[in-house]
Amino acid sequence: MFKTELNFIKSLFAPQEQIPLHEPRFIGNEQNYLNECLKSGFVSSVGEFVNKFEKTLAQKTKSKFVVAMNSGTSALHIALLVNGVKANHEVITQSLSFVATANAIAYTGAKPIFIDIDEKSLSLSPKALRAFLKKTAFIKDKKCFNKSTKKRIKACIVMHSFGLSAKIIELKQICEDFHIALIEDAAEAVGSLYKNKALGTFAKAGIYSFNGNKIITGGCGGVLLSDDEKLALKARHLSTTAKIAHAYEYKHDKVGYNYRLCNINAALLLAQLEKLGEFVENKRSLAKQYKAFFKDNKNFSFVDESKDEKSNFWLNTLIAKDENTRTAFIEQAHKEKIYLRPAWQGLHSLKMYKNCQRDELKNTLKFISRIVNLPSSVRLKD
Ligand SMILES: Cc1ncc(COP(=O)(O)O)c(C=O)c1O
Repeated sequence: MFKTELNFIKSLFAPQEQIPLHEPRFIGNEQNYLNECLKSGFVSSVGEFVNKFEKTLAQKTKSKFVVAMNSGTSALHIALLVNGVKANHEVITQSLSFVATANAIAYTGAKPIFIDIDEKSLSLSPKALRAFLKKTAFIKDKKCFNKSTKKRIKACIVMHSFGLSAKIIELKQICEDFHIALIEDAAEAVGSLYKNKALGTFAKAGIYSFNGNKIITGGCGGVLLSDDEKLALKARHLSTTAKIAHAYEYKHDKVGYNYRLCNINAALLLAQLEKLGEFVENKRSLAKQYKAFFKDNKNFSFVDESKDEKSNFWLNTLIAKDENTRTAFIEQAHKEKIYLRPAWQGLHSLKMYKNCQRDELKNTLKFISRIVNLPSSVRLKD
């Protein structure tokens, strides 16, 4: 079963015992920078590589401010805090996401509300968001409240699924209309562009992840991106234990977080960042081959970028004709050591979040059990 499809996947990658979903590539200055970092002795939360990495990423994304942290989850938590999200608030997001998206909301004490995805981008649907807010929200003194819970809807996190762009312009407009702070979870979309602008730089704050399975990695790592200086300074302060700068005294003015990226991870990341453009092109050429192959396939359709975007195709994605076809394909592939993957379980169905408010999640439920992620590593033979 699925012999043609699996042979095709094998033909795309150099012969190897197994084909992982996404593996890191270290083909640049990694070794040099790591050695340099070790020699300097500055391997922890202070060091030149962290500063260089922030500066280089700011230049590449044209974001005015970049604050490096130890994970995408940390960056998302801080993004919510600096946007004023508190325990008695609610935050809208999509159910189709990695658990970190909802967890970051829960860390603040706020409650997530799960809204449907768009069927093309597989990210938060502007249509569903507007319909939900029109029906369920009211505005008072330029603040948005939930009619049913009377709580303030303070923020909305859109996640750019698998590196594809959400309908970010429309989402931004809706959030402005309803006085809600928009945050981009662009963990998966490092290097992706919409209308030539980096994803993660559209909203008041955006975040990236540099976890080991992302397009570039520092082993771990994340950043918050923003054009708002006050917000970025707050994020830097909160993520560095809220310590007031002083030559030797320990003074802290808030309950801060020890979220700063280590210099040794930043050394690795800086070398990886130098390769980002090359990696994006490499992954786009892989996507092109997948797209051509699955064009007339009767069991699967390829999820493509829209005309205004340039995706990093972090994970190439198929929609199977039904759940059984998806499961059979993944099981057969695993037998042949080709590590395809299904989508996450919908966040609305996880034990911790199952009582949260949500809309009908029509597209989410239609697609979530039919998604297949294909092996998408940067190819060395390319
Ligand atoms: C959509 C999404 N959000 C957040 C994260 C969290 O990033 P990290 O693993 O760096 O904490 C990830 C990936 O891991 C992700 O895929």
